[in-house]
This record gives sequence, C-alpha cells and structure tokens, in this order.
Amino acid sequence: MRPRTILYTGKGGVGKTSVAASTARRCAASGLRTLVISTDPAHSLSESLAAELSGEATQVSDHLWGQEVKAQEEMEHHWSGVQEWLGELLIERGVDRISAEELTVPPGMDELFSLLRLQAQHHTDEWDAIIVDCAPTGETLRLLSFPDVARWWIEKVFPKERQIMAAARPIARSLLDIPLPSAAVFSDIQRLSENLIAMNEILRDRERSTIRLVMNPDKMVIGEAMRTFTYLNLYGYVTDAVVVNRIFPEDVGTYFGKWRRLQQEHLELVESAFAPVPVLRAPYFDQEVIGPEMLDRLGSELFAAHEPEAVLYSSITQELVVAEDHARLWLALPFADKGEISLKKIGLELIIGVGDQKRTIILPPALAGFRPSEATFEDGALEVTFDGAPRPSQRPEPRRR
Ligand SMILES: Nc1ncnc2c1ncn2[C@@H]1O[C@H](COP(=O)(O)OP(=O)(O)OP(=O)(O)O)[C@@H](O)[C@H]1O
Ligand SMILES: [Mg+2]
Repeated sequence: MRPRTILYTGKGGVGKTSVAASTARRCAASGLRTLVISTDPAHSLSESLAAELSGEATQVSDHLWGQEVKAQEEMEHHWSGVQEWLGELLIERGVDRISAEELTVPPGMDELFSLLRLQAQHHTDEWDAIIVDCAPTGETLRLLSFPDVARWWIEKVFPKERQIMAAARPIARSLLDIPLPSAAVFSDIQRLSENLIAMNEILRDRERSTIRLVMNPDKMVIGEAMRTFTYLNLYGYVTDAVVVNRIFPEDVGTYFGKWRRLQQEHLELVESAFAPVPVLRAPYFDQEVIGPEMLDRLGSELFAAHEPEAVLYSSITQELVVAEDHARLWLALPFADKGEISLKKIGLELIIGVGDQKRTIILPPALAGFRPSEATFEDGALEVTFDGAPRPSQRPEPRRR
C-alpha cells in the first residue's frame, strides 16, 4: 500500500521543521516505518532531530529515517540538458556567464526537483509514513498545477516537436543563428513532465496524501495561510489539518498578557477561516524545540486528541469556476443555521455572514474585477455567483469543477 504522506508548509519560521519532525517521531513511536524528508533548500532537519542526515534516507532511531534532499544535485541530475541549452542561448545573446547560469534555473525549480524525491521514495515500498518538511511557501504547490499542461505537452506536442526539430536544426543553426534544443533538452522536459504527473497523482490521492498548514497566531501569518488554503483547495489538494504553533500559555505573565489576549482573538479567526478542517495547537515553550525530548513534548501537545498519521479531514472545501463574465464559488461551510446571508467583498477578501456567524476567505486574483451578485446556502454549502469581466491584464485562473 502507498505510504501515508503528510506535507507541512507555511510561512518562514513558524515551526514547520519542528512540527514535521515531531509528527515523524510520533508516527515512528507507534510502530510505523517513517521517513521525514526535507525539501527546503535551507535544511534544518538535522539540527531539529539532533541527528546527522544526508541526501539519502538515514536511520535516526527505531522506525525513523531522515533525509535532506540536496537540491543542487537533483538539479544537475534532472535539468542539466535544459540548463546547458538555455545557458548557451543566453551567452550568445550577450548575457554574462554567471547571470546566464542563474537565469537557467527558474525560481522554485530547485524545490520542485527536491519534491520529486518524495515521488521516488513513494515507489520503494519501504515506508508506512512519509512526512515532508517543505520550503517556506505554498508556491511549490502551485507549481504542481502544471501537470495538466505537462500532460498536454507530452501527448500533443512532443511526438511532432521532435521530428520538426530534427529536420529544422541544420537550417536554424545557419539561418537564424540560434542553437535549437537538443534531444537532451527534450528528455529533461519530458521526464520532468512525467514526474509531475506522477507526483500529482500521489498528492491528489485524498485517502493517503494531505497537506497541513503551519502558522502562528499572528495576523499576517494567518492571512498568508488563508491564501495558501484557498489555492490548495482550488487546485484540488486536501488540507487535513492546520497547526497553530507558539500560542502563549495562560501563565505567560503580565508583559505578554495583552499579546496573549490578541492571540486568543486570532485563534477565533483561525477556527472560522479553516473550519471544518481541524486545528491542532501547541504552546510557546520555555525553550527551543530541538532534539528528541522537546520534539516529543511538542508532539504530545499537537496530537493530544488525534493520531498523527490519521487523515483528519478528507474533502476539498472550496471550488471555483471562472468564465468570461461571471464566476461561481462553492464553499463548504459548517454553519449550523441557514439564516440570512450577507456578502461583502473588500479587495480580494470575501466576508460571508450567515446569521450571526462570519467567515472570511481570500479570493484568487482572477476575481479582482468581479462583484458578488448572488448567494445560496444549502446542505452545508454556500454558492456565490460573481459578475463582471476580469481586467484584460489578468490571466484567468485554471478552471475547475
Ligand atoms: N512551540 C514552540 N515553542 C518554542 N520554540 C519553538 C516552537 N516551535 C518552534 N520553535 C523554535 O522556533 C524556531 C523556528 O522553528 P522551525 O525551524 O521549526 O520553523 P520553520 O517554519 O521550519 O522555519 P524555516 O521557515 O526557517 O524553515 C526554532 O528555533 C524552533 O526550535
Ligand atoms: Mg524549516
């Protein structure tokens, strides 16, 4: 059976590595063969686990292995064909060598290749659970929306492209003076496309793979997590839990008293913004979370009421269809009563009220030029219709549903 796969992502410094490592330790303690893998190019998993890790899976303790993917090696392995070709092209165009080298690696690419190692581990049959400590952003996950494009390339473009290229290369070289991509470039891109498709299948397997968003009870951090949550939903990835880390405990003292009260308010925002997805909580400890003992303290707080490997929620909570002059948004809302619906859109924030309950969601930029025109609430789901043409400069979001 495929391993249970949990990806932890969130803003920088919120505690992703600590939470991933503590989840992995807890899974291992319950007897699951567990791999915790860091795809963040700036690794800190070794330090967190207090163990020496490498680019390959290394045993840390009973049932627990760790791996820090070396992005550079992955890039060299998978992207060198494209890099050489693009580099040559840029140098011929007068770009100096060092800039050319940097330009041949699109942003986010190194992390993408690191994530592909997850796919390799998936096929080994060695693991019951794979816990992924991702880079500090949900952007990588957006990159994973490429598979639809990738599939089209493979099916439609590749077979012809290769033939045309083979015929055109000598002419292009002498007439246009540009190096055409070689077979190595095509095989890099084809392999990447195939890997993305396979990766996508792993991540969209809602029974086994979920994402957990880590945040702190701070307004800006929560805002970013809400945005990521919207994208994950819209691209069809399941968020099965959100983690609020570093909550001030009751006995925090007078100096942080006001801060604690603010945090309590922010916690309410988290509850309403992500519901029905469960919220796991951990306090601000009196010391750093480093090494097995502290990781297990964190783990027992987070998973006081849940099994770490359980799929805590398994549905998509938002779906969006964007057409030329209207859009429809579907939202699962755990509001008990029907009540009167109110909608207010401020910038990209949509504030939905049902009776006396309120929920804010952050809309994707494609809806910037749209106004909500109609809303119905039935069977625990809200459907909102938007009117208005998107601004011409905006590219439409991928259509779903
Ligand atoms: N609940 C907590 N109480 C006290 N310290 C914590 C807690 N959670 C994490 N820390 C500490 O906060 C720091 C940042 O945590 P961590 O490295 O897990 O965050 P991260 O999200 O992985 O950061 P990055 O984005 O840099 O990868 C570490 O020093 C960690 O020990
Ligand atoms: Mg980290």
